[in-house]
Amino acid sequence: MAGNKAVAYKGPGEVEVIDTDYPEFELKDGPGVNPANVGRKVPHGAILRTVATNICGSDQHMVRGRTTAPAGLVLGHEITGEVVEVGPDVEFIEPGDIVSVPFNIACGRCRNCKEGKTGICLNVNPDRPGSAYGYVDMGGWVGGQAEYVLVPYADWNLLKFPDRDQALEKILDLTMLSDIFPTGFHGAYTAGVRPGSTVYIAGAGPVGIAAAVGAQLLGAAAVLVGDLNPDRLARVRELGCEPVDVSKGDPRDQIEHILGVPEVECGVDAVGFEARGHGADASHEAPATVLNSLMDVTAAGGALGIPGLYVTGDPGGVDEAAKTGSLSIRLGLGWAKSLSFATGQCPVMQYNVRLMQAILHDKVQIAKAVNATPIPLEDAPRGYAEFDQGAANKYVLDPNGYIKA
Ligand SMILES: NC(=O)c1ccc[n+]([C@@H]2O[C@H](COP(=O)([O-])OP(=O)(O)OC[C@H]3O[C@@H](n4cnc5c(N)ncnc54)[C@H](O)[C@@H]3O)[C@@H](O)[C@H]2O)c1
Ligand SMILES: [Zn+2]
Ligand SMILES: [Zn+2]
Repeated sequence: MAGNKAVAYKGPGEVEVIDTDYPEFELKDGPGVNPANVGRKVPHGAILRTVATNICGSDQHMVRGRTTAPAGLVLGHEITGEVVEVGPDVEFIEPGDIVSVPFNIACGRCRNCKEGKTGICLNVNPDRPGSAYGYVDMGGWVGGQAEYVLVPYADWNLLKFPDRDQALEKILDLTMLSDIFPTGFHGAYTAGVRPGSTVYIAGAGPVGIAAAVGAQLLGAAAVLVGDLNPDRLARVRELGCEPVDVSKGDPRDQIEHILGVPEVECGVDAVGFEARGHGADASHEAPATVLNSLMDVTAAGGALGIPGLYVTGDPGGVDEAAKTGSLSIRLGLGWAKSLSFATGQCPVMQYNVRLMQAILHDKVQIAKAVNATPIPLEDAPRGYAEFDQGAANKYVLDPNGYIKA
């Protein structure tokens, strides 16, 4: 039987490419696998040879030691692959298909899945609703930063690309469908962006940039994107959006300078719990900064799309409250302004088909926008390190040489 190589979390600041087992149609015990999921049979699954698998800011929370992820956990929730084997219960997906894997693992059979809420499937993670590949507290489904990966409920989860050659040609764009393109779009959509909207997006990482591209697709009149990283702010300008340098002070003043009013209609948090403060406070972490600032700058009656991740346990939290995910949020202000909030995992399946069409019909250049940068699987430690240092790139691992070919 073929072997497998994968990227594993070793400890804070460290990942390693390890030799591991080729997947079987059963979830085996291993680092981070929920005991109640060990031995779970997966006749509805497919085994993929990975075509592209991206490094994400969500991985960085684990790799920075900011979660309870155990050493040895195989990483990778952003997966595009070629189907090599299917289980006996798979009816429509076939070997040879090139497919995008939504990062949310969903059963397609529970109440939430039936309502399209695939980010909170009730049946795949014994601990709580919601699951993902290669992620702490998500049930233990093995990550796809690997040569091969098992995908459960394949007929339901997989998005098959219509044409193999076209898919491989546009692979650097299509690989963003597994997470950040739908996630950024969801941030803009749930913030209420529509033609003519004004939008402030906090964070110019790949998710923030994808939210900006999403806001442009939705017809926003002005898209402002805040960060404190000069390289990432430069990308914002290249996209035709307005950069807001939060190291220079509160976004409110810069928003007023750009728009003539200190408010936007729609706010997006593409930062999450590792947020820095603004102005003089930008040198340190202040986890409630973005949420409080968005409540401040979003006009009354508006909405906040919050793809930025917030955790229930953070060993590196700035204080005791933050260690359990309790933040000092000025909810009174949000209430007084009748703001609404959309949190949680992006339900990728609600968006990936249409965003695929937008890519295939050249309506959008998401790979260029996020500076998609393919690297071999063996270079994953370098990719993680550079991304952690704030490189304005989205690293795409190429474990089987599909991308170079
Ligand atoms: N909800 C979902 O389904 C989902 C999916 C993918 C990623 N995420 C989350 O989205 C967030 C962004 O992901 P990413 O890959 O772009 O991460 P990233 O770490 O590359 O980007 C975050 C950016 O925020 C900037 N930042 C820090 N403090 C800021 C502040 N106060 N104001 C403005 N910018 C600030 C950082 O400099 C950085 O450039 C992460 O929390 C990630 O876990 C959520
Ligand atoms: Zn991701
Ligand atoms: Zn379900």
